[in-house]
Amino acid sequence: MTVRVALVGCGAMGEIVARDVYPGLGSATLAAVVDPDPGRAAQAAAHTGARAYPALAEALAAERIDAVDIRVPHHLHAGVALEAIGHGLHVLVEKPIATTVADARAIVDAADAAGVVLAVAENYPHLEAVREARRVLAEGGIGRPLAIQSTRAYRIDGVWVRDGWRESDGPAGGILLDQGTHQVSLIRQLGGPVASVSAAVSAGRALDTVTLTLRLESGVVAQSVLTWHSPGPWDQAEATIIASGGRLDVVVDYEKHAGGCVIWTPEGPGRRGAENYYDSHTLIAADWIGAITGGAQPRVPGREGLEDLAVIEAAAASLDAEGAFTPVRRTP
Ligand SMILES: NC(=O)c1ccc[n+]([C@@H]2O[C@H](COP(=O)([O-])OP(=O)(O)OC[C@H]3O[C@@H](n4cnc5c(N)ncnc54)[C@H](O)[C@@H]3O)[C@@H](O)[C@H]2O)c1
Repeated sequence: MTVRVALVGCGAMGEIVARDVYPGLGSATLAAVVDPDPGRAAQAAAHTGARAYPALAEALAAERIDAVDIRVPHHLHAGVALEAIGHGLHVLVEKPIATTVADARAIVDAADAAGVVLAVAENYPHLEAVREARRVLAEGGIGRPLAIQSTRAYRIDGVWVRDGWRESDGPAGGILLDQGTHQVSLIRQLGGPVASVSAAVSAGRALDTVTLTLRLESGVVAQSVLTWHSPGPWDQAEATIIASGGRLDVVVDYEKHAGGCVIWTPEGPGRRGAENYYDSHTLIAADWIGAITGGAQPRVPGREGLEDLAVIEAAAASLDAEGAFTPVRRTP
């Protein structure tokens, strides 16, 4: 079976998947590309041979579509996802799954009711470095975890800021939504569910520089630093786990498109695992298509996106409460 996909949103991320991901996916084909910006839709169409449309409704009226891949700004995720699910179509939606837990809940419930596959395009659970770290922790390779630290410090420019929504104070804007969901996903992968969170911002930088302190249900504490004001992510661990018997760094090398998991014990450092970071976009799409054709759960189902967003919503509430630890509303 070849899954016929409509790609909705042909901006920076949409172009990457149209150009680099779908042409190599044997079991899926892009049957439509959708963007109200005709130039962007045409460019994505040129990469794939798909027909270009200005709106999803027009694509659905003209093409036979099985599944919808959503790469639009954050505040539009929920509307497009519910439209697609309403037509009985499988959905892959970018992170964050939505901008409110209520919208995320509506998407998850609608997908369950419709019996369609709902996956979230969150990278970290797909990265071999993260999966290897989970294996090492499960084996007790560095002892009992004591603390987790994660950093997302880089500069956004070029295509990532050209429409202005990401750095704005509008409904889609801010680093907490854009990168916070990634970091929460990473910390949850390494340390399990989050019980409560305290958030703080550097003076005058609420949109682009945020720190999170997370109390995990396991009793471990985690910290995350997010900023768009650092020259680049070089020589920077994505996450570090400090444990009773050692330390583990999850490393992604964005320049060499590689990564790995470095373990430090009293015997010294050793590297395990290596991978191509950018392939995570292919892994995400291939996993979703595989879930559609094979009937398995996707690696990051909608419910996981909902869990990540619940932590971000609690962090936003903590900011409003001047950093008070705010419980995360766990969702059944
Ligand atoms: N997982 C990752 O690694 C990763 C990386 C970058 C971006 N993203 C996510 O991808 C999404 C898009 O980000 P981006 O940087 O590509 O944004 P962008 O602004 O470059 O592109 C968004 C596109 O959506 C189009 N659009 C707006 N409304 C639309 C509608 N109703 N139907 C169809 N198209 C519509 C816009 O015209 C624009 O071309 C965001 O959710 C972002 O968080 C994920």
